[in-house]
Amino acid sequence: MKYYLAPMQGITGYIYRNAYNKYFGGVDKYFTPFIAPTQNKKLSTRDLRDVLPDNNKDITLIPQILTNRSHGFITTCTKLKDLGYNEVNLNLGCPSKTVVSRNRGSGFLALTDELDQFLYEIFENSNMNISVKTRIGRDDPEEIYKLMEIYNKYPIEELIVHPRTQSDFYDNTPNLDMFKYVMSESVNPVCYNGDIFTTSNHNELIDQFNDLGKIMLGRGLIVNPGLINNIENDTKIDKEVLKDFHDEIFNTYIEVFEEDRNAMFRMKELWWYMIHIFSNNKKYAKKIKKSQNKADYNEAVSNLFREQDIL
Ligand SMILES: Cc1cc2nc3c(=O)[nH]c(=O)nc-3n(C[C@H](O)[C@H](O)[C@H](O)COP(=O)(O)O)c2cc1C
Repeated sequence: MKYYLAPMQGITGYIYRNAYNKYFGGVDKYFTPFIAPTQNKKLSTRDLRDVLPDNNKDITLIPQILTNRSHGFITTCTKLKDLGYNEVNLNLGCPSKTVVSRNRGSGFLALTDELDQFLYEIFENSNMNISVKTRIGRDDPEEIYKLMEIYNKYPIEELIVHPRTQSDFYDNTPNLDMFKYVMSESVNPVCYNGDIFTTSNHNELIDQFNDLGKIMLGRGLIVNPGLINNIENDTKIDKEVLKDFHDEIFNTYIEVFEEDRNAMFRMKELWWYMIHIFSNNKKYAKKIKKSQNKADYNEAVSNLFREQDIL
């Protein structure tokens, strides 16, 4: 099985990815949080820093682009090509209102003629391998029938499918009937994404889809960075390794942002997920969330690691 780390804006930037690779590994491909093309000749400082090869040594990184304009997509590809990339990922999954209201991300899925034309133009004009990360529709899971007709017209490097609609957001459960349809219809390689939080979730999926070769993990891997080891080798995450991993991310944030508050803000986003791997975590979650300075934060985190177990 190949495992991919899902792009997660605000979480899976290069600092997280490098720390993950150092302490856990086992991820075959990492994807950047989305880059939204602008009119500027250059990538924004933040986007550039996230894709710079020097900041992404020893990992396979696929930059992700979010747009519905082929020109913006193609010019961003050129910038990424100059940095040495040969593959990019198109975001057709983002469900957030601001993105969808501009017909981007999963909002683009409802405009099938425009989407088809967009794909035609980017596959004709960009000299990159292009993978697609998609939901199964904007409003109705049955939209996937038409979408598969469109996707099958293009040599998509991989079709990464999160089997929810935009309107599901993260509610309901992934629609495995529709995923089955995608698996049977797709002429391109397929990767599954969605709600794999435990080894049993993984095993149940594999039982149903024997020939699935690729899984993208998002929240499950952020909650439990040892999930891949758990699935593959039946080993549980080591608390000390998790603490070292945490410290490496926090210290690098402080170094790069040159500001404790910003670094803590980022860590709090991570704790939103990671806290769930600890026993009796509620009171510690509150303490971490409320901490106003580095000393408070470190104390709250140290207490959690000392006093609670990993579930
Ligand atoms: C906070 C957050 C940020 C995300 N940012 C992105 C993003 O930049 N690009 C993208 O394609 N998906 C993004 N996603 C969606 C995830 O990549 C993934 O598809 C989703 O979480 C479902 O997978 P999971 O159940 O394994 O988490 C984001 C999800 C979350 C929760």
